[in-house]
Formats: sequence, C-alpha cells, structure tokens
Amino acid sequence: MEAQKKKQISIYVFGRRYEVPEGLTIQKAMEYAGYRFIRSCGCRGGICGACLTEYRIQGKYQLKLALACQTLAEPEMQITQSPFVPMNRAQYELEKLRSHPGILGKIYPEIYRCLQCNTCTRVCPMDIQVMDYMAAAVRGEIEQVARLSFECVMCGACASKCPAEISQPNVALLARRIYGRFILTLPKSLYDKISDIEKDRYKKILGRIKQMPLEELMEIYTQREQEPQENQEWAPKNPDFPKGIFKGESGS
Ligand code: SF4
Ligand code: SF4
Ligand code: FES
Repeated sequence: MEAQKKKQISIYVFGRRYEVPEGLTIQKAMEYAGYRFIRSCGCRGGICGACLTEYRIQGKYQLKLALACQTLAEPEMQITQSPFVPMNRAQYELEKLRSHPGILGKIYPEIYRCLQCNTCTRVCPMDIQVMDYMAAAVRGEIEQVARLSFECVMCGACASKCPAEISQPNVALLARRIYGRFILTLPKSLYDKISDIEKDRYKKILGRIKQMPLEELMEIYTQREQEPQENQEWAPKNPDFPKGIFKGESGS
C-alpha cells in the first residue's frame, strides 16, 4: 500500500516498459514489475556480485554497469541483465604453487595483453582500482594485487568489458589465495586453535553448540573476540573460548 502512494516512474526491463514506485532498487523494481529471480540474485546486500545489471538512461549515451540490489531505479532506465559472465578460470592446485613474482603471468599469461585503458576501473560497481591491480599483477606484486582487489565481489563487470579479454577477478583471486597461503603470517594463537580442533578438544562442546536454539547461538556468537586484521601479535583474552560458556561445564 505504501509503495502505491509513491510517485511512479517508467523503466524498461529487457525492452518492455513498466511503471514502478520511485525509490526502489533495480532489483526491487524488477520484482515489483513481476520478475521472479531464479538467477542474478543472491545476497541482496552488495556482497555476492550475482546481480550485475547493465543499463542506459534513455537519451543519454553512457552505458553503465551496476549491482541491482545496490542501485536505485531511475526514470527512463533501460535495464538488462546477464545471469553470468563467462570468465577464464585456470585450473591449479594451490598447494603445488610457489609464491614468486611471475606466477600470476604464468597461470594467466593474458595479463600481459593489458592496454591500460582503464575500462575495468570505470565499470567496477565496487569502485575498485582494477587497472591498478592489473598493473601490479603484471609487475608481479602479489601482495599489492591482493590488497587492491580485497573488496571484489566477482561480478565480472570488468571482465565483460575488457578489450584485452582478461578475467581480472580470477587473476586477483589467485593473488589473494597465494598471499593468504604463502605470504601472510598468522598469529600463533590461530595455529594453537587449529591444533586444538585437530586434537578433538572441542568435540563435546561443538556437539552441544550444534543442538542450541538459534537465539542462544547468536548470543554466544556476539560474545566472541574478533581478531584484528593482519595483527601477528594478537592473542585472545580467553584462549579457551568457547570453553566455560555453559554453566557447570569445563567445555572439553
Ligand atoms: S579493461 Fe582490460 S585492457 Fe583495459 S586496463 Fe583493464 S585489464 Fe587492462
Ligand atoms: S573488480 Fe571486476 S569483478 Fe570485482 S567487483 Fe570490480 S568489476 Fe566486479
Ligand atoms: S544480490 Fe548479491 S550483490 Fe546484489
């Protein structure tokens, strides 16, 4: 009812005109128009990259790419969606790789075709400096690629427009995997925790947690300490968490 009172705007979805209330995201406007998503929709929160949408405002020359769940529908918007951008995804076994400057170019040699045209940066809905991380990939700077691409949602917008036919998100994903596996050093407390889990130290308590009502589980979840990003010195105040969360139990 509330939506009915709002001003209506005209949008075009796959070439067909619809009147929808002003103020809806593209995703909600399409649903209002009667579309049911079985593709091109996932998290609805700007995280999964599934809702890549291409549009042009009638009368303007610019062709734009956006995440449908994060972008408001505008009057005279011509909208189209492709459920999937086919990208080159190389096969490799991370454990058999080594971190060296040429590794990205060895697995994705097409990165050397980059023209530095900046199209990828211009279309990225996450405002990531895609061209810069591709330049870092060409220079073999794995950590820089990992850092610059950290917020990539794998939507494929950059890859869909690249004149050099590079699949930037997969190059960046490889860099982040190599960085996480071979370069980033982790705090000792994390290895201690993994060792404890491998020794089944938490078997009983994890079994109990699995049976918990959702509200109780959420309460425990909010009590956990959060590790600061990339701080090798960090150690938890309660290294035995979640031991002791149940009254009268040791947790082991
Ligand atoms: S769109 Fe392709 S060619 Fe252009 S800068 Fe980005 S990676 Fe390089
Ligand atoms: S870098 Fe490419 S795949 Fe990642 S969010 Fe930006 S446009 Fe999407
Ligand atoms: S639905 Fe996941 S980013 Fe839009």
